[in-house]
Amino acid sequence: MNTCLICQSKISPFLSFGKMPLANGFLNPSDFSSEYFFNLTVCFCNTCNMVQLGELVDRNKMFHENYAFYSSTSAFMSEHFKNASETIITDYLNNVTDPFVIEIGSNDGIFLKHFSGRKIRHLGIEPSKNVARVAKNNGINTLSEFFDEKLSKQIVKKYGKAHIIFSANVMCHIPYMHSVIDGIKQTLAPNGLFIFEDPYLGDIVEKTSYDQIYDEHAFYFSVSSISYLMGMHDLEVVNVQRQNVHGGSMRYYIAHKNAMTVSPSVINMVAYEKKKRLDELSTFEDFKSRVNESKKQLVRLLIKLKDRGEEVIGYGATSKSTTILNYCNISPKLLSYICDTTPIKINKYSPGMHIPIRSYKEFSKSTIKHVLLFAWNHKEEILLKEKNFLANGGKFITYVPTVSFLLK
Ligand code: SAH
Ligand code: TMP
Ligand code: ZN
Repeated sequence: MNTCLICQSKISPFLSFGKMPLANGFLNPSDFSSEYFFNLTVCFCNTCNMVQLGELVDRNKMFHENYAFYSSTSAFMSEHFKNASETIITDYLNNVTDPFVIEIGSNDGIFLKHFSGRKIRHLGIEPSKNVARVAKNNGINTLSEFFDEKLSKQIVKKYGKAHIIFSANVMCHIPYMHSVIDGIKQTLAPNGLFIFEDPYLGDIVEKTSYDQIYDEHAFYFSVSSISYLMGMHDLEVVNVQRQNVHGGSMRYYIAHKNAMTVSPSVINMVAYEKKKRLDELSTFEDFKSRVNESKKQLVRLLIKLKDRGEEVIGYGATSKSTTILNYCNISPKLLSYICDTTPIKINKYSPGMHIPIRSYKEFSKSTIKHVLLFAWNHKEEILLKEKNFLANGGKFITYVPTVSFLLK
């Protein structure tokens, strides 16, 4: 029996996907025979309400000099982070003398470029060297290290405390959470704010978006579990806001305990989560049944299309697609190839199922009518971009919230 990464209580596994490869482990044929696999299992902690993985993958296997996810590939996310930076500057930094902003997991600089552009003192922490290099080349002050308590001490010594610490889609990647939160506590100025956002457990359960579950996502946060965690470190959730990105995210505002007034949004979301029973194991057991059903339906549809002689391809070789393809056992026989815009993924093969990844140009040239939309979280952006494909009778297949053809 495993113990909780947050509170050390016994945790209950509720869903096992079996052996899984690294979600971003796109590979060449010469690497097929040595491909790494681990047991993907999700567990619930009845004490602190944290949903988490049962088996963890070594961080050096996931975040390195060939990290395949470049944040700026999405125009929609670029806009999202531009808005976030502007709100932060207006609401919190305009009256601060010599403000200092830190981002944890700054990737290619998608967020911090708005601070470097305004000559605001900033520091990005980004262990994946290839994406960190892109940011550095664009004039963003970046440290290519894993953030934790030890690093925070060096940062404070060199730069002083931060008025804002920001982090998007990174906290849920970090199993050594107590070290990170201790580090944040020590780095945050007395009236500073730690603002972070991650995919929201409430959305994952509601949309049965089980493809959010993969090696890099060690945690699936709720306001209730985050409140418990912050309380352990004398920090406080002072505001929360739902975000319409990555299939439904939550932005959390964290301050030193008693430093700021707590917004009613926090109490309201905790009440909402109680109503949705995000604090009960049975909710996750029901989720598991829906996941099984979703798998059956997707496989059934792909087999039906194949039997009719229809070729199906994928759109977006997302990290999420690794869970779908491997759990549903979708091989190149059912899905010929996946198109993607990320150069590092093109001409490689998908983790586990070894489906070829081709360039986006092939999608624009192809006459294939059925396309499985793995990048469903970028749906708005993609539907706008692919008007011609749809006008010519093309159809996007989705599996979120249920297996269906996407309506325009
Ligand atoms: N913030 C970006 C990137 C998210 S991807 C966005 O929202 O698009 C997750 C990133 O977290 C990766 O770039 C990875 O290298 C980084 N990461 C993982 N562990 C980290 C740690 N301990 N400290 C800082 N960054 C980390
Ligand atoms: P994400 O879901 O983890 O953000 O990854 C998105 C992936 O989808 C990334 O590999 C880039 C790819 N993609 C496209 O190929 N075309 C697009 O229009 C978008 C938005 C993403
Ligand atoms: Zn716990």
